[in-house]
Amino acid sequence: MPTDFAATRARFHLPQGVIYLDGNSLGPLPRAAAARVAACVTDEWGEMLIRGWNAAGWMDQPTRLGDRIGRLIGAEPGSVVLGDTLSIKVYQALASALELSPQRRVILSDTGNFPSDLYMAEGLCRTLGAEYRLVTVAPEDVAQAITEEVAVLMLTEVDYRTGRKHDMATLTAMARAQGVITVWDLAHSAGALPVDLAACRADFAVGCTYKYLNSGPGGPAFIYVAPRHQDVVRPALSGWLGHAAPFAFDLHYRPGAGIERMRVGTPPILQLAALEASLDIWDDVDMHDLRTRSVDLCEAFIAGVEAACPDLTLASPREAAARGSQVSFRHAEGYAIMQALIAQGVIGDFRAPDILRFGFTPLYTSDADVQGAVAILAQIMASRSWDQPQFRTRARVT
Ligand SMILES: Cc1ncc(COP(=O)(O)O)c(C=O)c1O
Repeated sequence: MPTDFAATRARFHLPQGVIYLDGNSLGPLPRAAAARVAACVTDEWGEMLIRGWNAAGWMDQPTRLGDRIGRLIGAEPGSVVLGDTLSIKVYQALASALELSPQRRVILSDTGNFPSDLYMAEGLCRTLGAEYRLVTVAPEDVAQAITEEVAVLMLTEVDYRTGRKHDMATLTAMARAQGVITVWDLAHSAGALPVDLAACRADFAVGCTYKYLNSGPGGPAFIYVAPRHQDVVRPALSGWLGHAAPFAFDLHYRPGAGIERMRVGTPPILQLAALEASLDIWDDVDMHDLRTRSVDLCEAFIAGVEAACPDLTLASPREAAARGSQVSFRHAEGYAIMQALIAQGVIGDFRAPDILRFGFTPLYTSDADVQGAVAILAQIMASRSWDQPQFRTRARVT
C-alpha cells in the first residue's frame, strides 16, 4: 500500500493559520506525543518512580528506538543507539574512527559542513595533538582529496544551507578504496530521504531527531556503528552506561557489547517518549514514497517561486537527485524577507549571509501549503513589505 500522506498529516498538530516549512530545523508536535509524554510523566515517573528504569523499560529505550530509526537509514538491527546531542555524537564517532586508523592524522571534511561538526573536529585534534589536523575542501573537491593520507572522511550528506546532497555511495566506496574510515552526519537526511548505510558500507553515522524525526526541541541524537566495528571501537567518551556492567560499579572501564558501548550517561526519558510517538507515524511510511513526494513538493515550490519572484536566486541544486528535502533561495535582504514571511504565517528560516531556507516534509506538508507559501512570498516581494525596520532586527535564533 502506498503511504497515505493525508493520514500522516492528520497525526500532527499544525497551528491554525501557519504554513510550516521549517521541519528541517524543528519538526512539529505529533498529536500523540503530548499524551505519550504526559503518561510518561504521570504514570511512569509519577507512579513508578525509580522502578520505571526496569518496569517501564526506560533503560532499553535508546536501543529500542535506535532500531526503529535504523529502518529509516538502512542500518542493520542493533547498530543504532540514541543519546546526547549531535555535536557530542560527532565527537564520539570521530574519536573512535581515528583510532581505527592509527597511522594517519588527517580528518577530511568540506566547507559546506555544519560548523559544529568542524568545531568538534578541531577540538578533538587539539586534544590529541601529535599532528592531528582537520582539512576542509570545497564540496565539489572532496572526491579528489580522498587520499591515503586521510584517516577519516567526515561529511554531512545534505548541506544545511543549500540542500546540496553528496553521493554517499560513491564517496564511501572511494574512501574504502583508500583505507579511509567514513563518518556521515545525517542531520538533514534521516527522515528526509532514503539512506542505506549498510549497502553503502558506511563506517559511522550520526544524526539528530528533532528535525525530520519530530522528537521536539532538544531531542537526543543517534549514532550508528557498522556491525564489523562494534566490538573493536573504543569509546573516547567512556561513560558508565557504555560500560559492560554499569551496575557492577567497577573502578575501570570495560566497553559494553556492540552498540551499547556508544552510550554515555542517563538517557533523556521524557524526550524519548516524544520520539516514540513520532516513530509510530514513521512506521507507516515507505521511504521511497517519501522521496517521490518530497521531490514533487520541492519542484512545485521552485517552479512557483521562480515564476513569481524574479529577485530571488535559487541556491539549491536544480537537479532533484542532487538535493535533499529543502529548497533555498538567496537574496541580500533574506533576513528581512523571512521575517515578513513569518509575520504572515509562512515559517521557514534564514542562514547567514543571505539564504532563505524552506523545508519540505511530506509527512505533513501539503500541495496547498506550497501554493499558499508561493502566493504569500510573491506578494511580499512585489509589495516590498519586507522593507521595514521591525523585520531587520536580528533575534538570537535566526
Ligand atoms: C548537520 C548538523 N550537524 C550538527 C548539528 C548540531 O546539532 P546539536 O545542536 O544537536 O549538537 C546540526 C544542528 O542543526 C546540524 O544541522
